[in-house]
Amino acid sequence: MSKLTLKDVDLKGKKVLARCDFNVPQEANLNIADDSRIRASLPTINYILSKKPKKLILISHLGRPDGKVVSKYSLKPVAQRLKELTRQEVRMLADCIGGDIQKEINQAKETVILLENLRFHPGEEQNEPNFSKALASLGDIYVNDAFGSAHRAHASTEGITHYLTSVAGLLLEKEIAYLGRVLKKPQKPFMLILGGAKVSDKLGVIENLLPRADEIIIGGGMCYTFLKAQGKQIGNSKLEKDKLDMAKEILEKAKKQKVKIFLPIDNIITEKIEDASSGKAVGENIPAGWMGVDIGPKTIRAYCATLKKAKTIVWNGPLGIFEIDAFASGTKKVAEFISRLKATTVIGGGDTASAIIKFGLENKMTHISTGGGACLEFLEGKTLPGIAALTDKNA
Ligand code: 3PG
Repeated sequence: MSKLTLKDVDLKGKKVLARCDFNVPQEANLNIADDSRIRASLPTINYILSKKPKKLILISHLGRPDGKVVSKYSLKPVAQRLKELTRQEVRMLADCIGGDIQKEINQAKETVILLENLRFHPGEEQNEPNFSKALASLGDIYVNDAFGSAHRAHASTEGITHYLTSVAGLLLEKEIAYLGRVLKKPQKPFMLILGGAKVSDKLGVIENLLPRADEIIIGGGMCYTFLKAQGKQIGNSKLEKDKLDMAKEILEKAKKQKVKIFLPIDNIITEKIEDASSGKAVGENIPAGWMGVDIGPKTIRAYCATLKKAKTIVWNGPLGIFEIDAFASGTKKVAEFISRLKATTVIGGGDTASAIIKFGLENKMTHISTGGGACLEFLEGKTLPGIAALTDKNA
C-alpha cells in the first residue's frame, strides 16, 4: 500500500485521533441492532492501545442529523458498547471540538475517549477548513479506519489530513487489500453476483468488472429490468424504464466479451409483498398483476451449479426480499452454497452483509466489507477521497 499505515508510525505517548465508522443500525429504543462495524474497528483500537498512546480519541458520525444536535443520533450507545467490547473505561464527551473538549481530553483519567457525533456540526459534511483544523488540534496523529465513510470528502475523512500525519487503520488496510485484490488479480474463474433493488446502483460496478469477470449472476429487484430488456413479461415487478436501453447494451457487451450473464429462469412471485403466504413459483414470465420477489428453485440450482467452479466470488446485493422469510430462499441458499466453496468470497457491505449476518454465515466468508456506498464506489474503480488523502509512504 502506497499510504502510511498504523505500523509505520510511533504512537507511544501520542494523542491518537482515530476516525471510525460507528454508523450502526439502531432499534426504535436506540439499542444497537448490529454492532459489526464497532467490532470491525477493534483490531485498530487494540493495536493503538498496545502501543501506549497518551490518549486514543475516537471520532465518528451516526446517521444524518444535518449539522444539528439530534439526540437520537448521539453516540452514547456506541460508548457503552465500546466499553463492553474493549473492557476499557471509555469517556464519552458531549461535543467533538472546542476549548472545553480539549481541556476535558487532557484532564481525563481514561485513555479511551469517544467524542460526540461529528455531524452535529455542519462543518463536518461541508469539509470546512476551520472545523477540520479544530478537530486536528485535538491530536498528534490521525488514523482513518472508517472504510464505510471513505467515499465522503468530509472534514473528518479528508479535511483533517491537511493538518496531521494521516495513516490507514488496520480495517481500512484490510478492506483495501481484499477489495483491491479482486479488482487487480482475481483468481479465475471470477464470478460476480449482483442483486438489490436498482440496476442504476450497479451500472458502475458492471462497467468496471465486465472486462475482468468470467460470469455475472443477477437476481434481486434489478433482474426484472434485464428480463424486460430480453422481452420477458415481468408483470408488476420492479422496472427502471429509463435503464432498459442500458440493460440491453450490457447484455450485448457481455456477449461480445464472452462474459456469461445469468438471469432467473424461474421466479417467486406474489400479488402483495405484505401477503407472504401468497408467494408461488413461476417460470421466466411473470403474469400481469404479480411481482417477482425472489429467484425460483430452478434458478437457485442453476446459479449454484455454475458458482461451483468459481475461485473468486464478489457479491453485492441480495437476490430477493430476504427480510421476509418467505422470499429469502434465493439469497439464503446461494449464501449457504458459496460459504462451503474453496473460493475467495468477498461480500459487499450494506444489505448483502446484513443478509449474511441474518443467516449466521459471517464467519464463513473470506471478507465482508463494512462499506455500503464506499464498497460500491471502490468496486466501480473510483478513487475514494478518504484513502487518497492519507499521507504517502514516500512523502
Ligand atoms: C454508510 O453507512 O454507508 C456510511 O456510514 C456513510 O454514511 P452516509 O451515507 O450517511 O454518508
